[in-house]
Amino acid sequence: MSPQLEDLFSFLRFASVSTDSRHSGDVRACAEWLRGKLSGMGLIATLHETPGHPVVLAKNAHLEGRRTVLIYGHYDVQPVDPLELWTTQPFEPVLRDGKILARGATDNKGQMMAHVLGVEQTLREEGDLPVNLIFLFEGEEEIGSPNLAEFLRQHREELRCDVIAISDTGMVAPGVPTLGYGLRGIVCCEVVLRGPKGDLHSGIFGGAVSNPATAIARLVASLHDDHGRVAVEGFYDAVKPLEGWEREMWASVPGVSDADFLDVTGAPALFGEEAYSSAERVWARPTAEVNGIGGGYQGEGSKTVLPAEAFVKLSFRLVPDQDPADIMRKVTDHLERHCPPGVQIEVKPGHDGKPYLVDPHSKFANAAQDALRASFGAEPVLIREGGSIPIVQTFRDILGVDTLLLGLALADAQVHAPNENFPVANFEAGIRMNRALLVELAKC
Ligand code: BES
Ligand code: ZN
Repeated sequence: MSPQLEDLFSFLRFASVSTDSRHSGDVRACAEWLRGKLSGMGLIATLHETPGHPVVLAKNAHLEGRRTVLIYGHYDVQPVDPLELWTTQPFEPVLRDGKILARGATDNKGQMMAHVLGVEQTLREEGDLPVNLIFLFEGEEEIGSPNLAEFLRQHREELRCDVIAISDTGMVAPGVPTLGYGLRGIVCCEVVLRGPKGDLHSGIFGGAVSNPATAIARLVASLHDDHGRVAVEGFYDAVKPLEGWEREMWASVPGVSDADFLDVTGAPALFGEEAYSSAERVWARPTAEVNGIGGGYQGEGSKTVLPAEAFVKLSFRLVPDQDPADIMRKVTDHLERHCPPGVQIEVKPGHDGKPYLVDPHSKFANAAQDALRASFGAEPVLIREGGSIPIVQTFRDILGVDTLLLGLALADAQVHAPNENFPVANFEAGIRMNRALLVELAKC
């Protein structure tokens, strides 16, 4: 195995699951390993405490008159469950059919490590980088980066830069270099409906009191109309309509036709807002999604119970210029107004993040396209992203800098799911891309 793959495998062995406090030791050990790797390469690498998981920073010696590039990534990962659906152990990386299998292989350790190792190669071969570099790696992206905005405020001077680059987004098809110029925002909440003071026999009491599980189903049903649109009043008020040039451009992007969506999801049919293609629905339209729902008996067979409470976990993906706080208010109003009688409602707001949109033809974006073209030997495509990286708009708000999204994640990478994988070809292309990117950004 190449020393580069060995480094990635060492990185993947840490169970750095940020959401689970039982793994906080693993998250820290991962951050410490990373700091050691970066300082071993000759960078000035530091570990910074936050109220949550640590931030790792690394810099080369900054010279006057050179461009400063910040590369962001996250070393935390999503939980692995359901574990029984993995064909290998999530934290024992394996190479199979040209793919690296492990939790975090794509999101984000593989993509992030490609940048680290690209820099290592340049330093070894050239002795220096063409730019002033800042690596900023956090351990809380998968939980909404709750402490990073404050970290940016406190380290604003140290983090001053001209442009930010991130590889934590999608690539439309193998071998097709992809520059992202938009991200959806997000706002999450949990809704609890409470009925009787305890679980009841559904024969003795059913029919006489409201069933919270039925009520939550009706509440969830109220979120959409019959045409796939979100029925929350004012939800679309701030939505920026899709531009004609984007629709035209996206129609010829490979790998994202409706047929591709059917194929990669395995869903029996596509469904969504009328008059939009799947790519348009995902990249440029907002949504309301149920991420989890529960209440009542979940075990084998039947149990005639009328549950005392039921819950649903919701998230809303947002597009420019929707504002998470405004949407949360509108959603809360909607839920309270549509709550069926006979239950009490509690809406607990969760984390959020703003949507992001940037000019894909700025001088930096053009340099990124040149780097993608050079390292993949193919013409880059320009897309927006359905996923969210909330810190990207925060970078703009606090540091005043735009971000280039150079994604290496394939649609079948199984991110957040069992059997997450990353092709070795993407890892190697990512290393080449990092080197080309720093060269192009230095001269643009
Ligand atoms: N890397 C993903 C986001 C992503 C994946 C964007 C694929 C585009 C294509 C990131 O790690 C992620 O999962 N973000 C979360 C953010 C949330 C927890 C605030 C998301 O999008 O659900
Ligand atoms: Zn993720």
